[in-house]
Amino acid sequence: MKHPSSLRPSRSTITVILLPLALLASIYLFLYPREFELQSLVSTCGRSTVANFADPVAVKPDFRLLMGVLTRADLYERRHLLRLVYSLQTNLSAHIDIRFVFCNLTKEDQRVLIALEIMRYDDIIILNCTENMNSGKTYTYFSSLPNLFNGTNGDDRPYDYVLKADDDIYFRLPSLIESLKKMPREDMYYGFVIPCGSMDPFHDYMSGMGYILSWDLVDWISTSEMVRNESVGVEDLLTGKWLRDGKRGKNRFNTKPAMYDYPIPVPIDTCSHAFVPDTIAVHRLKDNLKWARTLKYFNVTDGLKPSRFYHID
Ligand SMILES: *[C@@H]1O[C@H](CO)[C@@H](O)[C@H](O)[C@H]1NC(C)=O
Ligand SMILES: *[C@@H]1O[C@H](CO)[C@@H](O)[C@H](O)[C@H]1NC(C)=O
Ligand SMILES: *[C@@H]1O[C@H](CO)[C@@H](O)[C@H](O)[C@H]1NC(C)=O
Ligand SMILES: *[C@@H]1O[C@H](CO)[C@@H](O)[C@H](O)[C@H]1NC(C)=O
Ligand SMILES: *[C@@H]1O[C@H](CO)[C@@H](O)[C@H](O)[C@H]1NC(C)=O
Ligand SMILES: *[C@@H]1O[C@H](CO)[C@@H](O)[C@H](O)[C@H]1NC(C)=O
Repeated sequence: MKHPSSLRPSRSTITVILLPLALLASIYLFLYPREFELQSLVSTCGRSTVANFADPVAVKPDFRLLMGVLTRADLYERRHLLRLVYSLQTNLSAHIDIRFVFCNLTKEDQRVLIALEIMRYDDIIILNCTENMNSGKTYTYFSSLPNLFNGTNGDDRPYDYVLKADDDIYFRLPSLIESLKKMPREDMYYGFVIPCGSMDPFHDYMSGMGYILSWDLVDWISTSEMVRNESVGVEDLLTGKWLRDGKRGKNRFNTKPAMYDYPIPVPIDTCSHAFVPDTIAVHRLKDNLKWARTLKYFNVTDGLKPSRFYHID
């Protein structure tokens, strides 16, 4: 047991600590009034994205990224795991919002349990669509965003980038940020190029495991009649087709070998290879054991503090 009373600081100590802090805060507020609420935090919870004065690093985020995890309402356990994994990646130099995206609810239990999740985490987007492979959910996702986020970042565009992710991919956010920092903020299409053997980002399209479009492209998708006419089909292949037909996505980046499918004993294709230290994302984490082995490789639990309350060997 700690004894808080013995740690109570004297009045002069408080002044010595608070005065410079208050000074710093007012300088920061003066320099970056709008960014005040944009401390470089991951927010899996919209309402928790507030200034955190315990963290003295208060820099303007390098960029803003919306990470939409396309999933299904019933996958409660996966959302729990993803919230855990991403909430432990802190002190980021970009602003990243993680949202779980699904179509219309269909069951009585969902209408209550999902409502509870929203009340607690506020990180869910329910689109106007029905869950069905290749029925245009990706189109509905991208094309709904400009309207959904209209005005949420003042006059500025709400995000620089939009990520569309599967629910079986693990992103190492610091590596992702490091890689995106150097990228153009416009006309940008970034991801793991398909087919597996291709290293050419213009041939053919980015795998649905997780790819990024700059906001201007999302805007274009939401208004283009050509895209609307071709919104139903093989989801991620279509995204590549829209950009090709619309002559968009001049700036492209192929993330291989930093993104890949989880290593399996006998690789069936070159989308998969062994873990490497410089990883941006690992995909095809279909069960808890694959998540555990991946997180272990990246030393994610190294920071666990010893305690007499548990033993994990
Ligand atoms: C947060 O990040 C900054 C810049 O990358 C680094 O200097 C600082 O040590 C980090 N703080 C913590 C608590 O990890
Ligand atoms: C939702 O989608 C249905 C079917 O596509 C459409 O008829 C309806 O107008 C949409 N509702 C809204 C609010 O967009
Ligand atoms: C989704 O639900 C909304 C509200 O209940 C409804 O108006 C809409 O038609 C539904 N959309 C689809 C595609 O079923
Ligand atoms: C955003 O809102 C403004 C003002 O209500 C409106 O004029 C504009 O068309 C909206 N843009 C989108 C993409 O919905
Ligand atoms: C979209 O489809 C409609 C109806 O089939 C057609 O009239 C229109 O020309 C198409 N637009 C584009 C840009 O392909
Ligand atoms: C994990 O930690 C071990 C032991 O400290 C180290 O050798 C290894 O490089 C680390 N792995 C990664 C991916 O950082």
